[in-house]
Amino acid sequence: MTAPLPANPLLEPSARPLPRHVGVIGAGAIGPDIAYYLKTALPALSVTLIDIRQAAIDAALARLREYADKAVTRGKLKPEAAEEVLANLHGSTDYDALATCDWVIEAATENLALKHRIFADTEARIGDDAVLTSNTSSLPAARLFSNLRRPERATVTHFFAPAWRNPVVEVIDWPRADRALIVWLRHFFCATGKLPLITRDVPCFMLDRVFDNWCNEAALLLDGASAAEIDSVAQEFVHAGPFFVLNLAHGNPIIVETNTLQADAEGEHYRPAPILRSVERWVTPAPKQPADVTPEKRACIRERLLGVLLSQSVDILDRGIGEAADLDLGCRVALGFKQGPLELMRELGDAQSSRMLARFAQERPGMPMPQRALGTYQPSASDLLVDAIDSVKIITLRRPEALNALHDQMTDQILGVIRRHEDDPAVTGFVIVGYGTKAFCAGADIGRFPSLLGNASAAAQYARDCSRLLVHLDAMRKPVIAALNGMALGGGFELALRCHARVAQRSAWMQLPEVTLGILPGIGAMVVPYRRWPNAAPVFHAMLARAARLSARSASAIGVVDDLADDFDALIRLAVARVHALAGRLEPMAQGRVVVPPLDVAEARTADGRMLSASIIGLIAAAVRDAAAAPTLAAALEVGYRAFGAAACTAAAREGIAAFLEHREPDFGPTG
Ligand code: COA
Repeated sequence: MTAPLPANPLLEPSARPLPRHVGVIGAGAIGPDIAYYLKTALPALSVTLIDIRQAAIDAALARLREYADKAVTRGKLKPEAAEEVLANLHGSTDYDALATCDWVIEAATENLALKHRIFADTEARIGDDAVLTSNTSSLPAARLFSNLRRPERATVTHFFAPAWRNPVVEVIDWPRADRALIVWLRHFFCATGKLPLITRDVPCFMLDRVFDNWCNEAALLLDGASAAEIDSVAQEFVHAGPFFVLNLAHGNPIIVETNTLQADAEGEHYRPAPILRSVERWVTPAPKQPADVTPEKRACIRERLLGVLLSQSVDILDRGIGEAADLDLGCRVALGFKQGPLELMRELGDAQSSRMLARFAQERPGMPMPQRALGTYQPSASDLLVDAIDSVKIITLRRPEALNALHDQMTDQILGVIRRHEDDPAVTGFVIVGYGTKAFCAGADIGRFPSLLGNASAAAQYARDCSRLLVHLDAMRKPVIAALNGMALGGGFELALRCHARVAQRSAWMQLPEVTLGILPGIGAMVVPYRRWPNAAPVFHAMLARAARLSARSASAIGVVDDLADDFDALIRLAVARVHALAGRLEPMAQGRVVVPPLDVAEARTADGRMLSASIIGLIAAAVRDAAAAPTLAAALEVGYRAFGAAACTAAAREGIAAFLEHREPDFGPTG
């Protein structure tokens, strides 16, 4: 039996090297976007775009130049980097140009016969070791690759629009694919900033089963409501309604095709709404101008849309098409849902969800219904992945849409995993790491802050709630190690500080950016570092009051980081070794009063010269002083929670948080 894949794709190193030359077949809608993603992720890569029409290739190459120019204008790419992205990027109408490719991605029209021809033409030219993947959104791998000489080197890698920015890629694990191929693809995507989701080989895979049936249900509802009304109701759940999205993507023929595929394979209830064949564009307003809908009509539309969403979700999980946490995450990140369908189901509660499903079963006979109690469909920890190496549990923070930023439920999920295993004699300890290669954790989720502004006790309580995990770590008998695979900011750094040791990739860095947001780090950063590394107080002062960055190397020099690693594999190895080395040897943190030099700041500016709020710096300095003088660690931590509450009531906090959410620089001049 083959070993199961690790939940975190980077935990299984791939023997296959990075590709050097990738061919993308199809210069239409998505092929060039895939090429742009590949080139920005790996600028030295050669990419060849193949199409039967030279005009399509020319247009695609021009589009990629526009992307790179725009990225330079917006400061996302340096001009030299843009040059590199555009270099080694070619187009050809001749399949011979694929001969040196080690990976060919087919992104042509959704037509099985055409794809068979493309694969035959491609396989005749590429080497035996080359990988072949298709970007089909619906056709199962078993049908696509049936004629290949070497089907084990082929699978579906399904990107979502826009493929250069949307991180989700479904990787289809079908029975004839080599395990090593799936391991490599997941590893490659994760290491290059994507979010690979493993999916079974069924028509439309996982996420398009949700999207296509959501759109088809909306079209079936047109009997009793207009497209504008349906879109307006749908916006409770998605950023843009189904008809608006279908207009954008010229998607009507796609739904006809994909739902016909599902109907032929799985039953008439999936048959596409006839109206999809006769309409080219829907009359529907932009998402920001919803239409008026009567309450009765709203209730009917809402129940049907929720019905199809819940029905598809339970079917996906009952048939093992995908994982529960992946379903929610994929719907949010790839399809623009405001919440995952399982999160919605949890919010609705079992009684409401069952009632809606029963009504849906009546209105839409044949549609899938739950096969077990609704509570069992929920993921055990929606924002975490849990693996094991030796006797060590590896907890991966996975919120790629927010650089793994933490919120209170997520810290409780981590605590839940630790509590589940800490008394198990077979578990020596834990490692916490971030998903992907960019971030360990970008801090507390700033999106949750606006609701706390102006309410000191609610904000202080939020800090206490987020601290449950950290206080538990302080008292643990088994080691928890932070493996810093990238930036560790704010609350992410505070989590790392409370772990029993830290290992970091050399490229990792740490920062307390709260002061730039007009708030302060209330869950330990004003307390813990001074107790653990008293000699480095000036470094922590600069981090707190000036948002100074701390590189992994500097952190290692002052003892904050215990080991440095060259790459992810070494990081995890060192972290696991640290767990073993610390087992049974944990030392408690200083409990009583400590001596901390005063935190004096000459000018309210960041280390790189940006304006800060003098009043917030004043609150930080006072909290550091009072926490040092507190009689116990618990009392010192309480100083931090309250200071966070006080900061949340300042004009500076209002300005700083608003500026972050509006993607602008804050102006602390008027706020003080
Ligand atoms: N909370 C919520 N969302 C966050 C986040 C946080 N702490 N940090 C990053 N994100 C989100 C961004 O808003 C962005 O979402 P979007 O694509 O919907 O706009 C996404 O993560 C990617 O971040 P982005 O800013 O595009 O990446 P970048 O590489 O340009 O910048 C940072 C990275 C970390 C410098 C920048 O995101 C940042 O300053 N984040 C805030 C860090 C912070 O202040 N943490 C302490 C919070 S108390």
